[in-house]
Amino acid sequence: TKDWNGIDQVVLRSPHGASARVSLYGGQVTSWRNDHGEELLFTSSKAIFKAPKAMRGGIPICFPQFGNGGSTELHGFARNKIWMIEDSPPPLHLNDSHGKSFVDLLLKPSDDDMKCWPHRIFVIPSSFEFRLRVSLAADGVLNMISRIRNVNGKPFSFSFAYHTYFSVSDISEVRIEGLETLDYLDNLCQKERFTEQGNAITFESEVDRVYVSAPNAIAILDHEKKRTFVIRKEGLPDIVVWNPWEKKSRAMGDLGDEEYKQMVCVDGAAIVRPITLKPGEEWTGRMQLKVVPSSFCSDH
Ligand code: BG6
Repeated sequence: TKDWNGIDQVVLRSPHGASARVSLYGGQVTSWRNDHGEELLFTSSKAIFKAPKAMRGGIPICFPQFGNGGSTELHGFARNKIWMIEDSPPPLHLNDSHGKSFVDLLLKPSDDDMKCWPHRIFVIPSSFEFRLRVSLAADGVLNMISRIRNVNGKPFSFSFAYHTYFSVSDISEVRIEGLETLDYLDNLCQKERFTEQGNAITFESEVDRVYVSAPNAIAILDHEKKRTFVIRKEGLPDIVVWNPWEKKSRAMGDLGDEEYKQMVCVDGAAIVRPITLKPGEEWTGRMQLKVVPSSFCSDH
């Protein structure tokens, strides 16, 4: 099928009715639905479905940088590029295709991308291949595996995030568990470092943080919907938590004034210590999303 830009998108389906959509624009997952057809990812009603801006919602990929570390392109260029479908990618070490519906995408850089690679904290790279596999398991679990390879020349560094917009019923009823006692960099205080004091993260104003070295499983509890998202990650040490709250939402053209209540961004990420790849080296970053009824979530 086609997405909003007339660009191809791929629909993945599970035998029990779950589905996911992946656009070749940005390699962005734009929808993830459970067996009952309920949408689990947030998309703004004011989202601009038009290049050159990533659509506000789903899972845009931030690469080669999260934030604006030296380049003009906030969150990197990958989310604004057209990716290709790759029929036979190099094999993954882990067997990720068994019983799953999946798609393999590939992004290779253009010369222009190289010009806006962030050089302040990064070495200018030669060239890379970015392979993304998105798969949907029979039980509706969504898996994303990114493989980034330095294909020639000099070493380069990057930061990365799966900028995941979860759909929630009411942000004031949401708790995030698994980040307690961790250090975080607060984007609202010039990236100053603090230590999380609460038992769980709750929301009563704007939050824009990078939690450092987070555990590999964390949970978002949606009290009103009685469901929990479980995020598992590998190769992604950090977790971003973002909600723009009221004032910032009003200032954003592609987010409704009240829509901050229905979303929370929680990203599996590698930000605090950028990843450096020598020529020929490859990095893998994996995120798995699962939704469970709240009564069954004590084992996350
Ligand atoms: C967050 C950043 O993760 O992403 C915010 O920390 C930023 O500062 C937000 O506003 C959204 O970014 P964008 O480019 O999608 O509007």
